Parts: sequence; C-alpha cells; structure tokens
Amino acid sequence: MNRSEELFTRAQRVTPGGVHSPVRAFGMVGGTPLFIESAHAARLTCADGREYLDFCMAFGPLILGHTDPDVSTAVIAAVHRGWSYGAADAISLELAELIARHIDWVDRVRFVNSGTEAVMTALRLARAVTGRDKVLKFDGCYHGHTDAMLIRAGSGLAGATSPDSAGVTTGVSGDTLIAPLDDEMQLARILEQHRGEIAAVIIEPLPANHGLLPQRDAFLQSVAELCRAHAALLIFDEVITGFRLGFGGYAQQSGITPDIVTWGKIIGGGFPVGAIAARADIMDHLAPVGRVYQAGTLSANPVAMTAGLATLRKLLAGDTYAELESLGQQLETHFEEQRAGQAEGARLQRAGSLFWFVPGSDDGVIRSTHQIPESAGRLYPDIFHALLERGIYLPPSPYEVGFLSIAHTAEDVERLAAAMSAVL
Ligand SMILES: Cc1ncc(COP(=O)(O)O)c(C=O)c1O
Repeated sequence: MNRSEELFTRAQRVTPGGVHSPVRAFGMVGGTPLFIESAHAARLTCADGREYLDFCMAFGPLILGHTDPDVSTAVIAAVHRGWSYGAADAISLELAELIARHIDWVDRVRFVNSGTEAVMTALRLARAVTGRDKVLKFDGCYHGHTDAMLIRAGSGLAGATSPDSAGVTTGVSGDTLIAPLDDEMQLARILEQHRGEIAAVIIEPLPANHGLLPQRDAFLQSVAELCRAHAALLIFDEVITGFRLGFGGYAQQSGITPDIVTWGKIIGGGFPVGAIAARADIMDHLAPVGRVYQAGTLSANPVAMTAGLATLRKLLAGDTYAELESLGQQLETHFEEQRAGQAEGARLQRAGSLFWFVPGSDDGVIRSTHQIPESAGRLYPDIFHALLERGIYLPPSPYEVGFLSIAHTAEDVERLAAAMSAVL
C-alpha cells in the first residue's frame, strides 16, 4: 500500500468518503485520491514524494500559482499581527476600495467565506429587493451547495424542477426554475409563464462547472434584456471567472452589467473568501443598514483578506492577463498541431486561462449540456490516469475545467499538449 492509499483508508474511517469535498474522492475517475503534502509554483508533491505538474490549481483560486512569494510574505506578516478579530479592520476596507475603484458599477462589497455563501446571500438579497420568491438558474451552471441551487430540471411544465440532493425540500425546489443554456426562446417562455414571480436570474456568464460552455454574446444580451423586461435582477456568478479573464471578469469582457455579482476563489488568493457586490441601492438592503440579515464570525478574516489584497494588487500591477492569454494560446496551438495524430478525437475549448478537453467529439463549440458527447465521461478516467502516470495532474472529473496560472511556463503547456495527444 502506498502512502496515499494508507491515508485514504484512515480518512474513510473518520470522514464520509475520506474527503471534505466530493470531487476530491476521485469518484469520477476511479482509483485512490492523491494526498498532497506540499505545493510550489505549478507543482504538487504528494505524500509518496512524487511530483506532479498541476493544472487543477485548487479549482481556480491560484491564478498566481502555489505559494506566490508576494502573497506568502504578506500572509506571514498578517499572521504575526493577529489572525482573527471579529471586528472591523483596514485590510478588508482596502480590498473593498480596490475593487470598487477598478469596477465602476460596483459601489459596495460584502465579504463572506465561500462562493456558496455569496450565492446564498445574493439570492436572499434579490428576493428582498424585488419582493418575489422564485429564482431561475440554467442547466449546466453550478452555484455552490446552497439548497436553492441544488435543483435539477424536471419534466412537465417549462422550467419545472425537483431537488438534486437528498435533504433539499420540494418547497425549496418549487421556488427554483431551470432553463437550458444557449436558448433565449425557452428563457423567454419560462419568464412569461412566471411573469411577476421571478426575483432573479442567476448565471455563470461563462459556465465552467460542467465543462467550459462559452455562451453566444447574443444569448447573454437576451438574458440581460429579458431580466430588464421582467424586472428580475440579473446575478452574474463569477466565482470562477471573476478576476480571471480580466480584473472585471466576464462582466467586463461581455460589456453586460449585472445587478449583483458573486465572487470567490481568486478574491481570497487561495484562502476562504467569497463576496457579493452591487450598486448601493441594492447592497444597502443588507444588515445592518437594511433588513436582509447576513453575518459571519470569520467573515473578512484579516489573513484571508491580506491574501486576496496581495493577489489582486499583483494582478493589477503586471501583464498577467496578457501572459495567461498567451499561455492559453500556446496550449491551443500545440494541441491543434498534434491533433491529426490522435486516434481518439478530442478538442480543446478555451477562454483565457480556462480550458477543457472534450474527448471523442466533432467540431463546433459545445454551449449546453445536451451537446456534450456521452464519450466525454466514459473516456476521461483513462485519460486522467494516463496523464497522472506522466506526472500531470488534471481535475479529477471530466466536467471540471483546467486552470493555467502565471507560475506555468511555455514548456509546461507544451508538455501538457504533447502528453494529452500521446494519450489520445
Ligand atoms: C460558479 C461557482 N459558483 C459557486 C461556487 C461555490 O463556491 P465554493 O466552493 O467556494 O462554495 C463555485 C465553486 O466551484 C463556482 O464555480
């Protein structure tokens, strides 16, 4: 038994499935999860001492790579000053000011501890602002594990839904509607059917949790226009895309201004942070100014805020986004060059530093869940393990996207493309 297997056996005795977040259990790819001992730049070292080139990067927060020296120095200094006050402090103020200064439609920011918490608060806020109960999400978008978002599409009435997890009540699922991505007609129909009932439409403007599913600009414009026409608030869930595709996230890239945005991941530089941001007239419904209750013992924790501030400052200071785009382009070019030699067809869907390999599919952009070929799930476990043997760690699920960071090099992406092609 190797060290990871030994640790996994022990972990299963004291933790459900041996992990603290399901995808880590390798259930989608089989085998024993790697137990990580340390990480530096773009590399992970597991408990057996083996090193891996990391393209999962903690599922997104580490845009600067593991243990970035500037973040590390700032965090160590913050720990020496004290790591929790449960009181107001200047670091969270600086972080909120930095964000509001650079994203002009944001007046106010409230920090929470995770993306899930940010979404939960955004939905409550939207319900309070509009005085309506229902919210609409899209099939193929993930918004964390708050009850209202653990819902699947049902049959029957357009938009009808049922719980997607045990423990979620039908009462809750009855207030969440689901529409398909990439289909403005369906969305219009559902909104019409529920006229005057929908508080908010929530979307990952670049869905990145069920593969990478780029949406047409015209579709996103329609979503925004339909929200306006129905006086429903538009929530962009930018937990992955916020600060990743540019400082202003997908809102900036698409030119669409949502009513509320949710952030997570990069905003905490790898520490537990989420945030909700919007115009003052919306945000001032939150306590202690308004009547929407929201709180947190560890919210705006000074160490986490310091990591976020150091990360965002570094993103603003350098040419990070241009560098990441260039790395992404190199990955695409290398992969395309070798595509002809692949026995099993595959393609790469990419946006900046986010990428997704889709095995076994034809050309044409995949924009919604029903377009994902069945073979994607079937082939991925073999691909994942073959890459692992070559020292490359991809996300342990066919539907999670890969992440590039500024700690990756041109050689790293070339190695990934070559290994992927060899495996295919
Ligand atoms: C778009 C999106 N929203 C919400 C969440 C939930 O965030 P967290 O895992 O920090 O609770 C995630 C997590 O991956 C996400 O990608």
